[in-house]
Amino acid sequence: MTIAKTVDLVRAARQAGYAVPAVNIVDDLSMRAIIAAAEQAQSPIIIQTSVKTVKSMGAEIISGIFQHAASTVSVPVALHLDHCPDRAVITEVIRHGWSSVLFDASDRPLQQAWDETREVVAECHAAGVGVESEIENSVGVEDGVGSDEATHSYSNAKLVEVAQDTGTDLLAPALGTAHGLYKASPVLQYDRVAELGRLTDKPVVLHGGTGLSPEDFQRFIDNGVAKINISTTVKLAYMHAARDHIAKAEQTGKWEPVKMFDDINAAVQATVIEHIGEFGSKGAAA
Ligand code: 13P
Repeated sequence: MTIAKTVDLVRAARQAGYAVPAVNIVDDLSMRAIIAAAEQAQSPIIIQTSVKTVKSMGAEIISGIFQHAASTVSVPVALHLDHCPDRAVITEVIRHGWSSVLFDASDRPLQQAWDETREVVAECHAAGVGVESEIENSVGVEDGVGSDEATHSYSNAKLVEVAQDTGTDLLAPALGTAHGLYKASPVLQYDRVAELGRLTDKPVVLHGGTGLSPEDFQRFIDNGVAKINISTTVKLAYMHAARDHIAKAEQTGKWEPVKMFDDINAAVQATVIEHIGEFGSKGAAA
């Protein structure tokens, strides 16, 4: 059993110069496929759940499946709550053994975001749970959370001041990326990561990994990013595998759900293994 602390995984990655893949699940099938990919590539991995997934599967069930899946592999695996503006959900996942949460206060004015982040950090740290904090938003809506507009943006000095004061563990600044598929080429802010790294030793998280190139990832990692979030690519791999399987079933007349699960599992695993290679985390858990 290797249930890890998110913050330990990310700090180790920053030290060694790679990024830990943080991959969103949608169900138990995707969770098991992502953990199997990490085991195959001997990479640490962070399993992420959106608030929507927590609500659709239930925290207790996710936690049970996660603990079982993590107990079958040799690599360290952490469970993280992605973008959560709802503090009741944070309290719930703390009770069910999540390793860390992203308290997304980017919808609040600065002082409110600041005060609430301090409270969430106190609640989480009392339970040994790590906190990623977001007070300015990565553009794009993910599983019903977020905005297509940049709502708040602050200087690096302000982000660091809030992070030091609140005691948050990981920073999620806006870096020019967006959740989902890009409608226009993003203007990526590598320098911002480097400057934050000069101001604080708190690791920086890159959101909106889908659609970036291996070179983009490498440049972000070289500048200090140590956790990279991937969701949409995995959802696409999942859905395309299902679509292709159903198209084949239409032709052959063979309708076997378990065979479709096998195809989805293989497609999700392949996608995650590709990202593990791009993020430099392959073999890091060997
Ligand atoms: P993508 O959906 O663009 O991969 O972003 C994932 C993410 O940042 C989750 O927080």
